[in-house]
Amino acid sequence: MTKHKVGIIVGSNRRESINRRFALALARLLADRFEIAWVRIDDLPMYNQDLEGDRPETVRRFTAEVGALPALLFVTPEHNRSIPAVLKNAIDWGSKPTDKNVWRGKVAAITGTANGAIGTAVAQQHLRAILGDVGTLVMGGEAYVTFKPEPVDTEGNFVDESRRTFCKAYMDQFALLVQRLASPPGA
Ligand SMILES: Cc1cc2nc3c(=O)[nH]c(=O)nc-3n(C[C@H](O)[C@H](O)[C@H](O)COP(=O)(O)O)c2cc1C
Repeated sequence: MTKHKVGIIVGSNRRESINRRFALALARLLADRFEIAWVRIDDLPMYNQDLEGDRPETVRRFTAEVGALPALLFVTPEHNRSIPAVLKNAIDWGSKPTDKNVWRGKVAAITGTANGAIGTAVAQQHLRAILGDVGTLVMGGEAYVTFKPEPVDTEGNFVDESRRTFCKAYMDQFALLVQRLASPPGA
């Protein structure tokens, strides 16, 4: 049976991103049920409405990729109690022009990790509001994961059972939602 695709967007452009490591571990929890597509955002230019007449190639690649995906997992850092500019920039590109908004009708889940105790909670609330505004159905529930102590090793394996169990339950909930709501592959 063909698997649904789930796109993963990491809201960081940092080479050693802890959110990318965390996302890798989450991808492993989904890989038995979904084909995973890593959607790059770090090569997008800063949004500028003046470029709308002739969108840069990287932007066209990005919107085509997102447009073809039924479901998205966002794994984001928190920057100054909001989402990083690189992620907001990607969302802005995808939201315009309005009649080609690629976020509309997608199913999404949100999580993220930080060294602080609240594990990106404020950024996730902002992201939830932004995605709601652009027409994405965001799964309920919360997964704020602190990186102190580190939940995953450098290869993206969970290092303790309790956080693996917590994250697996969150990913299972997402999987159920995607299977129920996302269009079947090729539809
Ligand atoms: C500009 C900036 C602002 C930050 N603001 C926050 C913040 O509001 N909350 C937080 O928990 N961490 C904050 N941090 C620390 C990040 O959690 C840390 O840099 C983390 O490694 C970012 O995730 P990444 O490695 O996936 O890029 C900030 C870091 C930067 C560079």
